[in-house]
Formats: sequence, structure tokens, C-alpha cells
Amino acid sequence: MNTTTNIDDDILLSRYQEHVLVITLNRPEARNALRNQSLREITTALHAAASDDTVRAVVIHGSQTVFAAGADIKEMAQLNAISALTDSRPEFWKIISAFHKPLLGAVNGYALGAGCELAMHMDIVIAGENAKFGQPEINLGTIPGAGGTQRLIKAVGKALAMKMVLSGEMINAQTAMAAGLVAEVTSDDTTLERALTLACTIAAKSPLAIRLAKEALLLSFEMPLSAGLNAERKSFSLLAASDDRNEGIAAFLEKRKPLFLGK
Ligand code: CAA
Repeated sequence: MNTTTNIDDDILLSRYQEHVLVITLNRPEARNALRNQSLREITTALHAAASDDTVRAVVIHGSQTVFAAGADIKEMAQLNAISALTDSRPEFWKIISAFHKPLLGAVNGYALGAGCELAMHMDIVIAGENAKFGQPEINLGTIPGAGGTQRLIKAVGKALAMKMVLSGEMINAQTAMAAGLVAEVTSDDTTLERALTLACTIAAKSPLAIRLAKEALLLSFEMPLSAGLNAERKSFSLLAASDDRNEGIAAFLEKRKPLFLGK
């Protein structure tokens, strides 16, 4: 890993190889609870990464024992109905969900409440074998507030989403993988390494094709099939105008590795 910078307090930023930005959630004293400042720092980092051509993928991780324990309950306690409505958090979540480059989560330990919701904002989650996912807001007399009801049901289906949100019970990494919440389960000590390797694999592809593939896949949550298929075909056609697509096909025919420049 290259240089690590502490951009404020709640996250650390570093580079892995040339093209992977690594965001480390770093509030161990609060189990990486995502206070407003944490989300502000994450979105500031993503905003910069969005326009930095040298960043082709982002990996977010926490510690070996906790990814993130949710929204900061002490901060949440200060919110009344009106301040909850005008809070900046929904805008932060929108920025994360609109980030157009691949986002990978390396999840060890607890991913609870907003921590589970952050994991669900990732395009790909790699989980350690002892990871635990949950929406325990019901234990606090409230409900998920950052997409937990909507994204969870799409990710794992009604039966498990209802069980998790209504009971507050956590699920383990194996259940999360079987349900479609995570892409791979690794040993705890290799979770980050696997996410970084996968991020490098993705970073070596055409950034244009990656961008349009991510966009098309996510559109399926918003659109009926026929509109989604149209959008996919348009992006497929658009890529025929890219140097990267010519390079990819030429490299295959010439039996060499392609070099994608994002043009
Ligand atoms: N917010 C603020 N502080 C938190 C926190 C959170 N979500 N989770 C843990 N902490 C703090 C604790 O208050 C404690 O602080 P002090 O040392 O000052 O007392 C410190 O972190 C250590 O906590 P524990 O002793 O509980 O640590 P543990 O390792 O024994 O347990 C845990 C870890 C299972 C994650 C447990 O801390 C826990 O259950 N946390 C709360 C999880 C939760 O309810 N999350 C949902 C939050 S609401 C939400 O996220 C809403 C939303 O969708 C928008």
C-alpha cells in the first residue's frame, strides 16, 4: 500500500498499486460508527476520485473486527423530526450511490445498520468468514434510514429482509453470500487482499466499459426490462466508438494483453 493520509479523522486514504484508492474507516473507539463527519469525508474522497483518471476502483474497509457499527447513535439521539428531515446524510448517501467507478467493500466483523447499508452501496462485497450483517435499528425503536429496507429486500429477497429488519438479528457471511449480499467469503486475514486483487483486475479493464457496465447493471433496479435492454444496447453501441474496444479486440486477435487507456 502506498502513502496513507489522514484527511481528517474518520477515514484514512491510501493507494494500492496505481489505480486503486483505499478508504479505511478509522473510528475504532466508536466501532467505525458513521457519524455525519465520516460520511462527509467519504463523499469528499469519492468526489475527488470521480474526476481523477488515475483512480479506476475504490475499496472501502474497516478493521479486522468491525466494518461499521451503524450510524452514530449518540449523534442520532440529537435529531428531532425536523432536523432528521433536513439532515445532510441523505445527500451524502446519494453521492455514494451515484459514484460511477467500481466500489468494492472488504467487510470483516460487524456491518450493522448504516454499516450494512454502506456495504449495500458497494458494487461488490468481499466478506471475511466471521463477518456479520444486520439491521438492528428495530432494537433502538426505529428503522433503517439509509436504504436498508429498499436495498436489502432487493439484495436478499423478502423473507430474509423481513427477518433481519423486523427482528434485528444478524446474519453471518455464509448466509449473506447464499442470499446474494456478498460476492465472496474469504478467511478474515485475506479479505482486504482479495478485494484489492479484484479491484486491480477491474482497474486493468477499459474504464469506459466498466463505467457503462456498472451503469447498465444498476439501471435494472430502476427500469422495466425493455427500457433497461434499450439502455444496454445504446451503451454497447457507444463503446464501439471507443479506442479501448478496438484495443481489446485487436489484443485478442493478436494474442497479447490489451492496454486500456479509457479513450
Ligand atoms: N454509534 C455510536 N457509538 C457506538 C456505536 C454506534 N453505532 N456502536 C458502538 N459504539 C460505541 C459504544 O457506545 C462504545 O463507546 P464507549 O466506549 O464510549 O462506551 C464503543 O463504541 C464500544 O462499543 P461496545 O462496547 O458495544 O463494543 P463491542 O465490540 O462489545 O460491540 C457492536 C460491538 C456489536 C458493534 C456494538 O457496539 C453494537 O451493537 N453497536 C450498535 C449497533 C447498532 O445498533 N447499529 C445501528 C445504529 S442506527 C443506524 O445505523 C440507523 C440508520 O440506518 C441510518
